[in-house]
This record gives sequence, structure tokens and C-alpha cells, in this order.
Amino acid sequence: MEKNEFLYDLKTPETTWNGSAKTIAPDGTVRSEAGRITNAEGPHGLYWCLDTVMYKNPEGTDFTKTLMPHYHLHGYETFFVDSGKLWLYINGQRALAQKGDIVQLQAGQNHGMGWIEEVKWRGTYHDFFTYPEFGDVARVKAAMPELADDPELNAFATRGFMDHINTEPFLTEEVPTEQCQAIKNIERPHARYDFFPGLSFRVIVERWENGGVKELDCAMMEPGFTAKWVKYPPLRELFYVRSGKVKFTIGGKEFIADDECVVNAPRFLPRSIQVLEKTEMYDLGGQPYWSLFLQNYASIKHYDPDRLTPETVGGLKKKFKIQIESIGYTG
Ligand SMILES: [Fe+2]
Repeated sequence: MEKNEFLYDLKTPETTWNGSAKTIAPDGTVRSEAGRITNAEGPHGLYWCLDTVMYKNPEGTDFTKTLMPHYHLHGYETFFVDSGKLWLYINGQRALAQKGDIVQLQAGQNHGMGWIEEVKWRGTYHDFFTYPEFGDVARVKAAMPELADDPELNAFATRGFMDHINTEPFLTEEVPTEQCQAIKNIERPHARYDFFPGLSFRVIVERWENGGVKELDCAMMEPGFTAKWVKYPPLRELFYVRSGKVKFTIGGKEFIADDECVVNAPRFLPRSIQVLEKTEMYDLGGQPYWSLFLQNYASIKHYDPDRLTPETVGGLKKKFKIQIESIGYTG
């Protein structure tokens, strides 16, 4: 697939990853490899996307010993499970997540993972920051290498580089996937709106599961569906075409995004889409208040349909930061 400044095709990590890092176990085996797609932006560190491959734990692994239990003080994580299978350990539960699922982890939730198979683990994060003392301690070590192993110095940076705090392995009870709140799926959305031809809109992660900072929605679109944004969209969007085929026009440039493509739409750049094949697409930035917009739209449509004029809808769009000007369907 062609490469351009807006398109990140995760099917070809060799050309898409902007640098990568490996996690290596004490026995030398590579546990995971993470590639940077986009960087965090703004006070909540939004739009950060990493493409990680988590390698299968060896046969016979006791997951209670390898699940790396931890929590984040402020950080939130959303992972697309795009291949394989894992055990998710969270909230005293243990549940199976597999290809097609989405794992949503909130600040303060103790969690860990057991990798049953190799997993394409695509993550987007927010409020996930580095600890400044780590860099300060590293500076001392760079200046005075003889202090590198000084426990008194290292005690200042025990939390490590990221907002990541290790815990003891916790006790869990196995539950069916559907009973684990942290495992999401487009077939089990919080809300589903099917009233636009060619579009089934699913609310997957609500704002209250993300500290009020963002939401995660999925647009299931049919071939022939089109959408045009307002002339200068004030919000940046970071789309994830998990499957399907969409023709994008961003800033006058036309290109195709298909399975496993991230598309960056910078703020103010005019944009539109035309769906070519059945598509499952998310906005990883999650800034427009789609869930509330659609609740309000559905409410007016149900209780007071006469009021559903272009003026009313325009007012709702403004209130909930919806940047779509018009949609169409020729299918
Ligand atoms: Fe985590």
C-alpha cells in the first residue's frame, strides 16, 4: 500500500513503525516488541498509539507467575486484540480475550495478562506520563557512572520510567468473557444506533470509563456510505480501520485505507470518506461527544420528531463537537 503522511499501515510494520523497543525476559527471550505509530499530544496525552506484538508464553507457563500485575496511577489504556488469545486478569477476575475484542483498562485498576498465543496488541493511551525522577536519576548516573548501582540513588526512581506500578500477583476467579467489564466487543456495545442507512454506530467505551477524557466509538459502514466533514474540522482525529476498505480524502489527497490501517487527520484539514467495502472503523482520539449526541438525537426523534429540523441537529452537533457536515449512502 502507498505510504503518505496521513496513513500508517500496521500490516507492514517495517515501513510504519517510528522506532521500536523490545521487552526481554531474564532468560533472554523476547517477550514483546512495541512500535511507535503516533505520539501523545496535549495535557491528557491523547492520540498516542503503539503497535505491540506480545509473544506467546512458553508451553506450560504458570501465568500466575508471569502476568506482571501492575496498575497505573493516572494512565488509561485501550487495546485492540487483533490476533491470538490472552488471559486478562482484572478486578479479581480472569477472562479470555481474543481477536476482535477490545481491552479497556482504567487508572487504578490492577491488571495483568497471560499470553496464550502471539497477540497483535494495538494500544491507545491517555494521561499516561513519564516520571520525571527517572530522568533525573539517569542524569546522575550519566555524570557519575560509579553510582549506577547505589541503592540509595535507585530508591528515588523505584516507579520506573512510566506511570506503571508493579503489584503482587492477585487472586482471580475465572468468568466468561461477557462478564468481564474490561473486555469490550462491537457485538456488546453500550449503545447501538442503526438509523442511518449504511451505518451502524456502536458506543464501545463511554467517557466515564476514561476519566471523562475521551470515548471509543465504532462506525460499521457499508459500501456506498459517504461522510463529509465541516470545512475546517477543529478537532484532530486518529482513525483506526480495523477491517474493510475506505477511500479517504484529507487535505486534497486521496488514498485508500484497508485492514489494520491508522489514519491521522490533523485539525483544520478538510476531510471526507467513501466506503468501498464493509468497514469497522474507530476514532482513537475520541474527542467528539458521539454517545451524548446520538442519545439526544434519538430522544428528539422518539419524543418530538417535529423538532428534528436541520437547525435542531445543527445545534446538537455544535453542542457535542460533531464535525460531520453531511452523510450519504448510494449502496
Ligand atoms: Fe497496564
